[in-house]
Amino acid sequence: MASAAEAWSVDANEAVTLSFYSPKTGEETATGIPPTFTYPLYGDAQAIYGYKDLVVHLKFAQDSMEPAVEATWAEKAPQIGDVEAEDVLRPLEEHLPYSAFSGDHDGYVKYLQRREVPFRPPGVLQTTFDHNGRRFEVWRSNINDTNCAQLLANMQILVLLYIEGGSPIDLNDEVWSNQRWEVFFLYEKMLDDTYAFIGYCTLYRWYFFDKAIPNQTRVRLSQFLILPQYQREGHGSRFYDAIIQYYLDSPKVREITVEDPSEEFADLRDRRDMLRLGKDPDFLNVKLADVVSKKFPIKEMRACAKMPERQFLRCLEMQLFQGLN
Ligand code: ACO
Repeated sequence: MASAAEAWSVDANEAVTLSFYSPKTGEETATGIPPTFTYPLYGDAQAIYGYKDLVVHLKFAQDSMEPAVEATWAEKAPQIGDVEAEDVLRPLEEHLPYSAFSGDHDGYVKYLQRREVPFRPPGVLQTTFDHNGRRFEVWRSNINDTNCAQLLANMQILVLLYIEGGSPIDLNDEVWSNQRWEVFFLYEKMLDDTYAFIGYCTLYRWYFFDKAIPNQTRVRLSQFLILPQYQREGHGSRFYDAIIQYYLDSPKVREITVEDPSEEFADLRDRRDMLRLGKDPDFLNVKLADVVSKKFPIKEMRACAKMPERQFLRCLEMQLFQGLN
């Protein structure tokens, strides 16, 4: 027989659900999206005590990601001694901005429709591409830009829900430190000129020490996320390519590294790095004998690709194996 604690325990991954809304029409554009992880919010057991049929609804505007939270349940456990139902909203609210909406659904829709100026992504439009008749835009910004910081504050909770071991950026850090954070956003530009947030990526600039050339930087990709409803459509790949291209074109950037890549991201990175390197016939036709004899210019090619040694050698090894097949 289930204990009282078990009977009132809910699987947090099932209770929490995400939805997205068009601020223009108020209509749902995606709904019923489950989180991958809830342990940063509800503890290692990913369980919430004290409810039956609990729904913790996390809502976002599809462009600005302005959030709202609402919790509903069929029954709440009575308090027994010191034991009472958990406050389900507090852990979420700790990771949402003060401006997060907390009223009912109609109120949230009205709140989104209050806007006088249409939403525009923060920063500069870095690049655009068309895919399957849809238009996508990559915007580049910095967290010292208040619009960028607000957008991050709205949606950084997604780092906890979807990136294992991920931690949101401290937006209240020192100004000099904030200047070093660059943020790329991937948006779909809809036919009615509104925007839909698809994903984002943060990168931090470090010094790259080189006695011969001062003021060089190493970029460390920190967080990369594509919303679940847009995954496995090639968005991550195209977004990654656009970001890498920007840094390949930036003369001060010497190396592009990645912080703790997840398995899925490491796969994506391998595929895209291999495709990019494979455009060079010397890489494509590399022979083991040329690597051993040092005829193959590892150092130069790696510097040109701005890749860290480990990732470049990994790609080289994969290419040598492909050559054997
Ligand atoms: N139809 C079906 N499959 C497709 C299509 C398509 N049209 N297009 C691409 N795919 C496949 C790819 O071949 C690839 O398959 P594979 O994994 O079997 O090789 C897979 O879909 C993923 O490729 P993309 O679609 O380009 O990538 P996606 O947009 O899904 O983004 C990412 C990948 C970023 C890992 C995403 O899943 C995500 O955000 N996950 C959660 C958060 C996360 O793990 N982020 C990375 C953390 S590490 C860090 O931040 C440094």
